[in-house]
Amino acid sequence: MPSEAALKWLESNKQASVDRLVGWLKIPSVSTDPAYRDQCRAAATWAAQRLTEAGLAAELVPTGTKEKPGHPIVLATTPTVHDPNAKGPHVLFYGHYDVQPADPLNLWESPPFEPVIKPAKGAVGEHIVARGAVDDKGQVASFLEALLAWKHSGGPIAGGLKITVMLEGEEESGSVNLERFVTDHRSRLESCDVCVISDTGMYDRQTPAITYGVRGLAYTEITLHAANRDLHSGQWGGRCPNPISELTKVLAGLWDKDYRVTIPGFYDSVRDLQPSERAAWKALGFDQVKALADIGMPPEADVGEKGYTALEREWARPTAEINGIWGGYTGAGAKTVIPAHASAKVSFRLVADQDPEKIRDAFFTWCKARTPAGCRWELTDHHGGWPVTVPTKSPMLDACLRALKAASGRDAALIKTGGSIPVGGLLKSALGIDTIFMGFGLDDDRVHSPNEKFELACFRLGCRTHVLAMEELGRG
Ligand code: BES
Ligand code: MN
Ligand code: MN
Repeated sequence: MPSEAALKWLESNKQASVDRLVGWLKIPSVSTDPAYRDQCRAAATWAAQRLTEAGLAAELVPTGTKEKPGHPIVLATTPTVHDPNAKGPHVLFYGHYDVQPADPLNLWESPPFEPVIKPAKGAVGEHIVARGAVDDKGQVASFLEALLAWKHSGGPIAGGLKITVMLEGEEESGSVNLERFVTDHRSRLESCDVCVISDTGMYDRQTPAITYGVRGLAYTEITLHAANRDLHSGQWGGRCPNPISELTKVLAGLWDKDYRVTIPGFYDSVRDLQPSERAAWKALGFDQVKALADIGMPPEADVGEKGYTALEREWARPTAEINGIWGGYTGAGAKTVIPAHASAKVSFRLVADQDPEKIRDAFFTWCKARTPAGCRWELTDHHGGWPVTVPTKSPMLDACLRALKAASGRDAALIKTGGSIPVGGLLKSALGIDTIFMGFGLDDDRVHSPNEKFELACFRLGCRTHVLAMEELGRG
């Protein structure tokens, strides 16, 4: 089996692989903050260099417009992509090199962009701590290492598989330039048969997984304006609307007593859970009480939409969330004020086949119908993404399942996640391509939080799986 030499190479280059990942994690590629523009480019260049080293033709393609440039996308192809005689499917690999902001900095045990390898402790194995460790540099690196393994062990480039690689630098800031990029570079992407993404998790430490559904997202910001200035609450309290009180009253109406979202039409396009799916998830034996204990909550905190289990609520039901709310005086001491305005960030996690734009419009219409007397709304759309559910039976998914089994010795679970990866929906709607989400994170990796980690066992499993997947997918 040709993959043997590549797997051997991984084994004897274990330390060097981790060192390479450390080098990438040191680059603070925070995409939301303009101060890190050059660092984002540096992180993209770093990835392009690894791809070149592995025998692919790699380039940095600009995104956005002249006036509003975005972060570059790394686009790379194996030579076989241009070879009319090359057999087998053409696989698109997507990942993102940007990371979330690291704050609050004071909660990090070591600086976020100075990666450290921590020894195994309790259930947590030896792991690398840094912003981006698991989301998503560490996972992308496991794919890059697989490419390097094929190359340096003398095998064919990417195990002979036709691959196009697309690494985005704006996933954590809403993928605002991605749709245009995909349309503009359609000719380079449309011959792909399937997309593989490593940006999700395993079921648990022992059980690798393929994620066959991610939720969508509609993210908004709303401000309720009242008076044209802040007012003395003695003079004006009881005489005119307080926008904070009014805003909270409106928002409290988003849910009924069963935690169902009250916006008319909200559930119209939601695909019902199939009994077979409910049975399969039940059989996974998910322990919600333990999961709650991990986040410091008692069993009675198992709260959410009535009639569904915790796993069903995360994987198959939409939600409305208030992500932030502010206004008035929040400094030290007391200030008797009625503020001029109050704001909230309100977002919706969506499931197939809810349309993020329709949900946003429905929410804004719902707000307007409840405009408190004498007040005015300012309604802003931040970003969104479609939910995706992909088929659980396909030859290419089977190929990935075989690779996971061979790399881990265990059968992979078929799971969903409550998180969102906007590119999945975009590839389906723009190019008709399905995605296989094959990720290696763990639930306690602290994604987006201080002390984000990636366990080396997961990283290495990712490296081996990608080596084998390149071979298995190539069989067609
Ligand atoms: N990799 C995550 C999505 C994810 C998180 C998948 C946890 C599985 C488990 C991705 O980078 C992410 O953070 N997505 C954002 C959406 C985006 C539009 C900002 C999310 O889900 O909030
Ligand atoms: Mn991610
Ligand atoms: Mn993320």
